[in-house]
Amino acid sequence: MRGVVLAGGKGTRLFPLTKVTNKHLLPVGLEPMIYHPVRQLVQAGVTDILIITSTEHMGDVVQLLGSGKVFGCQFTYKVQEDARGIADALALAEGFAGAGSILVLLGDNIFTHSLRPFAERFMRQGKGARVLLKSVDDPSRYGVAALDERHVLEIEEKPSHPKSSYAVVGAYCFDAQVWDIIRGLKPSPRGELEITSVNNEYIQREGLEFDIVQGDWTDAGTFESLAEANTMMLACGNRIHEPRP
Ligand code: DAU
Repeated sequence: MRGVVLAGGKGTRLFPLTKVTNKHLLPVGLEPMIYHPVRQLVQAGVTDILIITSTEHMGDVVQLLGSGKVFGCQFTYKVQEDARGIADALALAEGFAGAGSILVLLGDNIFTHSLRPFAERFMRQGKGARVLLKSVDDPSRYGVAALDERHVLEIEEKPSHPKSSYAVVGAYCFDAQVWDIIRGLKPSPRGELEITSVNNEYIQREGLEFDIVQGDWTDAGTFESLAEANTMMLACGNRIHEPRP
């Protein structure tokens, strides 16, 4: 399985911190934010990694991350010219992934615990998609899953009346159906190709499974959540907890 880190977008909710730099280069704990998804992928056993970021900051990202040697992985880089959504950025990974499956991480999502069990469960699942859920106090900020005991029935992006407290966090496993699914998407009312639409199509195809996040999680895309991410990573010195056996 290959890995993709999505680190494009404009980071407007963090302006002016993101006026001259990319959100994913801001500090989280002891390290730049983008180190975290990279370390998560490597710890999950994924060492062929595509980094997707915006034109303006690609130079800085390459200068920071280099070839991947120091992380024990190998990087490929691609530019997303306009921030047209997470699924739009992911479409750039098709050639890199080939016919294989991918583990996709949003570059601003921070987890205290390793994603290896999640990746391993998807390998056993073999096809379709797998998402990670976390019960949160403010679900309206996220993609929110409506659930029965065993299945995700539907995901709504930033609903004003969420059907549960379960946010769909920014870690996704997809098989190669994802490329056709993205080609069939239409922009949402906010003008983006949404990852939530991709996941809903997998639900229609009865191919979406889920796990609950082990440990703690936050995104780092707002001032409050960036502060939370810093607190979380300072507490563990940016070390990711190994999975429970
Ligand atoms: O954090 C989890 C949430 O992330 C999910 O619950 C939502 O379903 C999902 O849509 C997303 O919501 P956000 O509105 O918080 O996403 P944001 O625009 O902050 O983008 C998240 C990451 O995706 C960001 O770190 C960079 C990358 N990205 C985003 C856009 C819009 C790109 O690479 N290109 C893009 O065009």
